[in-house]
Amino acid sequence: MRYAALLPDTGEPGFGVYVHWPFCAAKCPYCDFNSHVRHQPVDQERFSAGFLKEMATVRQMSGPKTVTSIFLGGGTPSLMKPSTVSAILDGIAKHWHVPDGIEITMEANPSSVEAERFRGYRAAGVNRVSLGVQALNDRDLKFLGRLHDVADALKAIKLARDIFPRMSFDLIYARPNQTVDEWERELKEAFSYAVDHLSLYQLTIEEGTPFFGLHKAGKLVVPDGDQSALLYEATQEITTGEGLPAYEVSNHARPGAESRHNLTYWRYGDYAGIGPGAHGRLTRGSMKIATATERKPESWLDRVERDGHGMLDTEQLGYEEQADELLLMGLRLKEGVDLSRWQQLSGRDLDPKREEFLLEHGFIERIGNSRLRCTPSGMLILDSVVADLAC
Ligand SMILES: C[S@@+](CC[C@H](N)C(=O)[O-])C[C@H]1O[C@@H](n2cnc3c(N)ncnc32)[C@H](O)[C@@H]1O
Ligand code: SF4
Repeated sequence: MRYAALLPDTGEPGFGVYVHWPFCAAKCPYCDFNSHVRHQPVDQERFSAGFLKEMATVRQMSGPKTVTSIFLGGGTPSLMKPSTVSAILDGIAKHWHVPDGIEITMEANPSSVEAERFRGYRAAGVNRVSLGVQALNDRDLKFLGRLHDVADALKAIKLARDIFPRMSFDLIYARPNQTVDEWERELKEAFSYAVDHLSLYQLTIEEGTPFFGLHKAGKLVVPDGDQSALLYEATQEITTGEGLPAYEVSNHARPGAESRHNLTYWRYGDYAGIGPGAHGRLTRGSMKIATATERKPESWLDRVERDGHGMLDTEQLGYEEQADELLLMGLRLKEGVDLSRWQQLSGRDLDPKREEFLLEHGFIERIGNSRLRCTPSGMLILDSVVADLAC
């Protein structure tokens, strides 16, 4: 099979296709993603037929499009058989134009990795893998409820590096009692395995998870604001020193190796969301439609088989809502947000007093005349900056 080189980033928002595989081998106690454990084998052929059927409906809504990236996320997509991945990718290419050389990412768990499967995904067209490593010591992996140990993770990283042209892995930091020293050591070790992209997330206590209950009961204590800020600053310093600076709050890459698919979200481009619990944004004329599907996998499948799609909500976003979303997503990026696009959508300028205040306190900065971004200290209080500017 001939593989095309990755197309260059045009700087445009692009059009992505996201497909959600909603199953995991076990549920991690911190995770509130739409992921479910099934003790009976999942009928993958039936699900892949469901994905293709929903694509046909979404294709009618989106109209003809050129796809700039595909992302198979989860859940644990690496529980899929290569033939399922192949059927999904073929289905996407049947419904939209898929040029050679676009980014096709798949999330994988180190515990569900087998060399044969990885080779099969590659043969199906996947050219980038994102591995959920989470920690580089067995004690913390156990605490995070992971099914893999460090040895499995390193094996998976090596395999991914050998088989895929691009790979990234995720780590979760700001774990209970984690010191800056410990994290710095772990992160430096991570750089000996990394290629050109890393996702580094601070542990978030999500409502409804087992960690939330433990945290509420005082049995799980996460670093406070000051300690989190120190951990965040150490992260920025090390990743910048290693040549993989943050291009988004939690994502670090060598320039040019950014995740194209995630850039589409943050540049507020359109994306088709296929599968249980997937979200989408589709522009129709001057309106953007927000789509969201049924989360429960079997109910989603029943709906798709009956109605041709599992969408529960399709909401037309007004200009003001689009302007808010553009700001919310764009300020996560180091390249910041295009203010003329924001002004066009919102029909107004930023409140000069609020902007002045945030500029003076060093939370935001202008890049030329038409872009605005958060400074590193602004990134630490991103939600408040967005809330301040959006009103
Ligand atoms: C969609 S998840 C799935 C990836 C894959 N299933 C795995 O666990 O290896 C993507 C990433 O989000 C991060 N994540 C999930 N829940 C989190 C939380 N509560 N706090 C911080 N990071 C989280 C993890 O690093 C995870 O790898
Ligand atoms: S973190 Fe990944 S493996 Fe764990 S429950 Fe969430 S989606 Fe599944």
